[in-house]
Amino acid sequence: MPNSSQNKHIAAIVFPFGSHQVPFLKLVIKLAQACPNVTFSFISTAKSNQTLFSRPNIPGNIKPFDVSDGIQEGQVLGTHPFERLNLFLQAGPENLQKGIDLAMKSTNQKVTCILANAFVTPSLIVAQNLNVPWIALWPPLSTSLSVHFYTNLIRQHFSADRNKSRSLDFLPGLSPIRLEDIPNDVVPCSDEEEQQFSKALASMGEVLPQARAVVLSFCEDLDLPLFVQDMKSKLQSMLYIGPLTFSPSDTNTDTDKDPSGCLPWLDKKGSRSVVYISFGTVVTPHQHELLEVSEALEASGFPFLWSLKDDQKSILPNGFVERTSTRGKIVSWAPQAQVLAHGSIGVFVTHCGNSSLIESMANGVPLICRPFFGDQGMTARLVEDIWKIGVKIQGGIFTKSGLIQCLNLILVEEEGKKIRENALKVKKTMQKASETGGKAEQDFKTLVEIISNP
Ligand SMILES: *[C@@H]1O[C@H](CO)[C@@H](O)[C@H](O)[C@H]1NC(C)=O
Ligand SMILES: *[C@@H]1O[C@H](CO)[C@@H](O)[C@H](O)[C@H]1NC(C)=O
Ligand SMILES: *[C@@H]1O[C@H](CO)[C@@H](O)[C@H](O)[C@H]1NC(C)=O
Ligand SMILES: *[C@@H]1O[C@H](CO)[C@@H](O)[C@H](O)[C@H]1NC(C)=O
Repeated sequence: MPNSSQNKHIAAIVFPFGSHQVPFLKLVIKLAQACPNVTFSFISTAKSNQTLFSRPNIPGNIKPFDVSDGIQEGQVLGTHPFERLNLFLQAGPENLQKGIDLAMKSTNQKVTCILANAFVTPSLIVAQNLNVPWIALWPPLSTSLSVHFYTNLIRQHFSADRNKSRSLDFLPGLSPIRLEDIPNDVVPCSDEEEQQFSKALASMGEVLPQARAVVLSFCEDLDLPLFVQDMKSKLQSMLYIGPLTFSPSDTNTDTDKDPSGCLPWLDKKGSRSVVYISFGTVVTPHQHELLEVSEALEASGFPFLWSLKDDQKSILPNGFVERTSTRGKIVSWAPQAQVLAHGSIGVFVTHCGNSSLIESMANGVPLICRPFFGDQGMTARLVEDIWKIGVKIQGGIFTKSGLIQCLNLILVEEEGKKIRENALKVKKTMQKASETGGKAEQDFKTLVEIISNP
């Protein structure tokens, strides 16, 4: 057979916001390494390009090309959290096409396939115009695929009765999920005009069946079986390639440093004894809740490592730091992946953000969940009711007594032992999926074949 990967040119279109960018780049890097003869053009905004391409060791067959972020010169942005997302999506296929034109001109190669974050729905139109296959990376929690796929059905179902405790049992596999768990904009409450971003998500039921493949960065064996079966029957191909995290060797060295000495501090603590608290970079819990957290930590007596932004330290009670200094450590940043891999960590108090979830699961660490937005509510539900690897905080917000109860449950009580055993089982399942010859490798190979012979 002639060398089929020659003259293949993949346009990779990122959703240039927040936590979506790094896993997407990671996927493109993995593909570029697996297919050294394929050209990859990374289509993104200048801002995203600058942050992403400052990392070392990006393969030479990936080149960035800039497109507009959709913001007009001098335009004043409003306050809606989706505004930048809306503007980028509104710039539409024409904007993306300009980036592709640049890439084709510079490489002198036609684009043969488009790989995009599923949220960038205009990229499907570009693929159709070019008559090339479209491959979509579904970046968030895999279960949320179904919620966005069936948005219209969900809206119809809850139009008359918005009882938040009602289950999504009319969707295959989703009976454990309740209305209160799913992202707010799936069933919007107000009559305000639907945001472009929400519209894009609501169109997944029409968009995703047109993808040559939908790529998931999770582990099939951990997903709800009926959900997997249903989605597989609706999509042309559904590939579970495993988590897309950077290993310490391929990230910027700075991000792996441990400036506050978390790891040596953990070395001196007993096995599975320490409470690790972090709410990621995006979420900022209300001051009142942070106060409740501090009171629970002080009263419960467990050792703790708290990753707390500097500007939030001022809300801690007077003398808290001094009174807890022998068993507590507060840092403005912690090398989370290494912290969670440390044997001293007994439980992770988290907002259930995507990478926090994966890092905790990969290390068999039980979770106490305080979800805030997006798919975090569904994550918390799966953690508590399906994987049984943690608990959701009672009433959905931190109180001193609620947190103490959860901490005791996981660190002291008999039920906590079961939760830890389950967490270790999940860890094994994830390891098995990512072994050589495992499911993740097989599905990745399939993806490589698709892009090499579109
Ligand atoms: C890439 O192309 C070169 C030159 O045509 C060829 O020798 C090599 O086997 C190709 N590598 C792969 C992985 O296809
Ligand atoms: C992308 O960013 C890199 C690194 O900041 C820069 O060198 C390069 O010129 C940028 N590329 C484009 C197309 O703007
Ligand atoms: C809401 O739904 C739950 C579960 O189906 C049910 O137990 C509860 O009675 C309902 N509440 C109201 C006010 O209808
Ligand atoms: C969530 O995290 C996993 C593992 O790091 C990654 O594969 C996935 O792409 C991430 N998604 C987002 C939206 O960050």
